[in-house]
Amino acid sequence: MINYADLSLELITEFQLSQETKEQIAILLHVAFPEEDFHGRHYFKQLPHSRFLLKDHTQLVGQIGLDFRVMTLNKQPINVLGLIDFAIVPALHHQGLGTFLLKSLIEQVSVLSDNIDFLLLSTDKPDFYEKFGFRLTSQYVKWLVTEEHVNYGMKEEHVGHCLMYKPLANKEWVENSVLEMMGYWY
Ligand SMILES: CC(C)(COP(=O)(O)OP(=O)(O)OC[C@H]1O[C@@H](n2cnc3c(N)ncnc32)[C@H](O)[C@@H]1OP(=O)(O)O)[C@@H](O)C(=O)NCCC(=O)NCCS
Repeated sequence: MINYADLSLELITEFQLSQETKEQIAILLHVAFPEEDFHGRHYFKQLPHSRFLLKDHTQLVGQIGLDFRVMTLNKQPINVLGLIDFAIVPALHHQGLGTFLLKSLIEQVSVLSDNIDFLLLSTDKPDFYEKFGFRLTSQYVKWLVTEEHVNYGMKEEHVGHCLMYKPLANKEWVENSVLEMMGYWY
């Protein structure tokens, strides 16, 4: 049973993470994404810019990595806050913690719509995110392929099944267009 009074949320820059927190993130990612090999790292492909962390006292129980980037959609620059490796420790799944963490993040960033046009994430569980106002999008996407710290050049592909966005500002999202990620795909 979760006692919400024991929980704390923290938005922290990546370069401020303590060794202990990095180790806890690495363990969380390892157990939450058993199909991926993180090689013991606290990130998969690249360091995110910041983290939204959920702790039970000093124990990490959930995290969302955050990447803040200019992308271009339909040739127009958009400020995109990407959500990466959203995870809750498996022993605590289905008790509302994921909902709590995601809702809390959305609450915190919703007031920053002067800086953030859209939230963006990639998922195979769109139903979960639709409840929070994310919508699936169909785009011709261009991104930099990276694997284990090596760049493999640009990839371009129509993507219609896993990218989801949530508008924060009044900017129009153009469907069935070209999305230049301006970097790696998180
Ligand atoms: C995705 C993830 C973060 C969700 O975390 P969670 O803490 O289980 O999330 P919640 O408990 O808030 O919601 C999960 C489900 O439990 C249900 N639920 C929420 N509160 C509940 C409660 N008190 N009792 C029972 N069920 C509850 C929700 O309705 C939801 O069901 P749904 O998926 O059918 O919509 C978690 O499953 C995870 O870490 N998965 C592995 C990593 C991963 O796949 N991340 C997503 C990458 S896109």
